[in-house]
Amino acid sequence: ELISKGNHRHYMLKEIYEQPVVVAQTLRSYLRRMDDQLALPVPDFDLDAIRRVTIVACGTSYYAGMVAKYWFEQFARVPVDIDVASEFRYRAPVMADGGLMIVISQSGETADTLAALRHAKAEGQKIAAVVNVPTSSMAREADLLLPTHAGPEIGVASTKAFTCQLAVLAAFAANLARAKGRLNPGEERELVRHLAEAPAALNAALAYDETIEAMADLVAHARDVLYLGRGPDYPLALEGALKLKEISYIHAEGYAAGEMKHGPIALIDDTVPVIVLAPSGPLFEKTVSNMQEVQARGGKVVLISDYDGVQAAGEGCIATITMPKVHPLIAPMVYAVPVQLLAYHVALAKGTDVDQPRNLAKSVTVE
Ligand code: G6P
Repeated sequence: ELISKGNHRHYMLKEIYEQPVVVAQTLRSYLRRMDDQLALPVPDFDLDAIRRVTIVACGTSYYAGMVAKYWFEQFARVPVDIDVASEFRYRAPVMADGGLMIVISQSGETADTLAALRHAKAEGQKIAAVVNVPTSSMAREADLLLPTHAGPEIGVASTKAFTCQLAVLAAFAANLARAKGRLNPGEERELVRHLAEAPAALNAALAYDETIEAMADLVAHARDVLYLGRGPDYPLALEGALKLKEISYIHAEGYAAGEMKHGPIALIDDTVPVIVLAPSGPLFEKTVSNMQEVQARGGKVVLISDYDGVQAAGEGCIATITMPKVHPLIAPMVYAVPVQLLAYHVALAKGTDVDQPRNLAKSVTVE
C-alpha cells in the first residue's frame, strides 16, 4: 500500500477528513483571492458560445452533476440536460451546435462515461472533463480539462472526489455566468467569497463526527432508510442513500422531499429512519412541511440543518445534526460530510468492509 491511512482506520475516513484541504487545493486553481475574482484558466475556449450543456456521469459523479445543473441554470441561465452515462447514447440525444458536454469522473476511465464522451464528440459537441486523474482517457480526449485536485482516492465509495467536483463545477458555472454577462463584478466577488468559505465550513462539519457516530445505531438496525432533500440538496439525498447502500448494504432511497407524498410515504412507519437534509434558505419551510408529514405518520426523522433550522424544526426528531450556517451555494458540499460520516459509522456498526464493499469496483471499465 503506497498511500498510507495515516491515523485513520480506513481510507474512506481519511478521505472524508481530507476534504477541507483538498477542496481548498482545488479552489485555489479556480479562484484568484486577492481581488475575489474568478480565475479559470480557459485559454482559447469560448464560453460565451455555449448555448446548451449536457452533463453525463455515473454514480457519485452523476450526483455532483445533478447539483451543478441547478447552478448552470440559476447563474448562467444555460439549459442543462443530464443523464447517467449508461443511458445517454440510447435515447438518441439531440446534439445541436453550440453544445458543451461535461463529463464528470473521478477516475476518468469509466467505460460508459467515456463512450458518451466519444459519442458527443462525434456529434460535434465541445467536451469539458471534470476528472481527478489528469492523465486519464477522458482528460486526454476533452477540449477543456477541469481537474479536481483531490489526490488519489482509494476507498471504493467516493467522498473527497465528490466535494472537489462540486467545487470545480460551482467555479465553472460562475465563469460561464460571467461570460454570458449574467454576473456583475459585485456578484462575482460575492460568489467567490462564498466559495472560498467552503474549506472552513467543511472543517466545522467534521467536528460532528462523534455526534454522528453516537447516532449510528439508530440507522444500523433499519431495513430501509429514506433520505429527503429539495433543490440542490435533493441530489445530496440521493448521494446519502447511495453511500449507505454501498458500504452498509442497507436499502436506502433518496427522494425529492415534495415527491414523498406521491408514493414513498406509504412506506413510513416507526421502523424507517428518514434523514432530512434542510439547510436554512428559500426551500427550508417547504422541506420542513414534508418532514412533518412524515412525523405525523410515526416516521423517525433525523434532521440535518444549521442552528436556526434545528431550533425551528428539531422538535419531535429522533436526532438532529447541526451544521455551520452556510450560503446555499456551498451547502451541498458541506452537507456531504454528515451523510458520508453517517454511512461510514453505520457500516462500522454493521461490521462490513468499508473500503472494499462487496460486488463494487473503484473504477468500472466495462459497459
Ligand atoms: C464506481 C465507484 C463509484 C463511482 C462510480 C463512477 O461505481 O464505485 O464510487 O462514483 O464508479 O466513477 P468515476 O470514476 O467515473 O467517477
